[in-house]
Amino acid sequence: MRIGVPKEITPREHRVAITPDAVARLVAKKFEVSVQRGAGHGAQITDDEYAAAGAQVEPDAAALWAAGDVIVKVRPPTDDEVAHVRPGQALVSLLYPLIDHARVAALADRGATVLAADMVPRTTLAQMMDVLSSQATIAGYRAVLLAADALPKIFPMLMTAAGTISPSRVLVLGAGVAGLQAIATARRLGAIVEAFDVRKAAKEQVESLGARFIEVPSEEDAQTAGGYAKEVSADYQAKQAVLLLQALGRCDAVITTALIPGRKAPILITAEMVQAMRRGSVIVDMAAEQGGNCALTTPGQRQLTDNGVVIVGEINLPSQVAVHASQMYARNMEKLLLHVSRDAALTLDAADEIVKGMLIVREGIVVHPACAAAVIPTKDKELAA
Ligand code: NAI
Repeated sequence: MRIGVPKEITPREHRVAITPDAVARLVAKKFEVSVQRGAGHGAQITDDEYAAAGAQVEPDAAALWAAGDVIVKVRPPTDDEVAHVRPGQALVSLLYPLIDHARVAALADRGATVLAADMVPRTTLAQMMDVLSSQATIAGYRAVLLAADALPKIFPMLMTAAGTISPSRVLVLGAGVAGLQAIATARRLGAIVEAFDVRKAAKEQVESLGARFIEVPSEEDAQTAGGYAKEVSADYQAKQAVLLLQALGRCDAVITTALIPGRKAPILITAEMVQAMRRGSVIVDMAAEQGGNCALTTPGQRQLTDNGVVIVGEINLPSQVAVHASQMYARNMEKLLLHVSRDAALTLDAADEIVKGMLIVREGIVVHPACAAAVIPTKDKELAA
């Protein structure tokens, strides 16, 4: 089986799905690997390094997509990339299939088999293949650096001959994988950190990192059986807003990470709350791509409000740290490829929990239960008409 690794073509995407060390380990396990020329450049990897690891370097996208039995990439395939997909070919990439039904339908139309990297079950067994976690870890770290960069203050307390500088205060909203890494990074830089999450289980994790957990006085716990958050009641939201307003008034930087799977991100910081923030303070909205946790965020933009608050809506933070983000993504992909194959051939055992969670389309048929009802491949639409 030949793995194909294309050069990512989404603007400002610098990551690559498989790195040379992963190539070498896959080749040792009898896989063949093709890499598109220049695929690793954004992650500081040369074609020669891929070739030395045992990959065949293909001159362009057409040659790469023609060579690969399984295409492994980072971003969801663009329309141009979908046009390269051929019947019987397999594709693994981020896909967001619960939201982007049109892309799933287009891939089904091509007769492909598609695994969504973002649908890996959040179980202990699947942890090594979990790109959501690996990339969120990188993003949480990066978000703090963006906040520190935009803040006209330093993070740590300093006691010097020129006086004592009090530490900056950082507020982290959402204490999942990204939020916990943001807390740890801000603490390492010397900030005083407070954090908030609707899942009560997050309290202990936040406190273990030396941050204060802001607790809403309510019996409500928004954790689902799967460990994710669900929407909270209006009463809870009102109590949360009061506490949040107070915390926003005393912090210098806010990192927001609150997401609800398959939905638009919840608005936690309203325009009025931004007005209550101190001049010079910073909001880094990590949920910008899903609409933002701040009502004023513009995805992809950095803006300054009229009361002097900087709102950072930059998206795709892992791509800004492409070397390590690619290294972790590649390790996840390597483990996944080994899990879904035997003797370097795809097996895709439908009874396997990980395959069940991630397999969206099998040879042109939408098989994932959460997508099958919503996604109608074009060929079926034509038949129905
Ligand atoms: P996520 O990226 O979906 O959401 C980020 C955080 O925002 C979550 O902690 C969520 O509770 C919080 N949130 C949602 N709405 C909120 C609101 N209105 N106000 C404040 N916070 C809000 O979450 P992520 O990071 O993917 O983790 C989700 C869960 O999965 C966590 O419990 C995590 O520990 C668990 N997990 C388990 C893994 C495993 O067992 N292998 C691997 C990774 C995560």
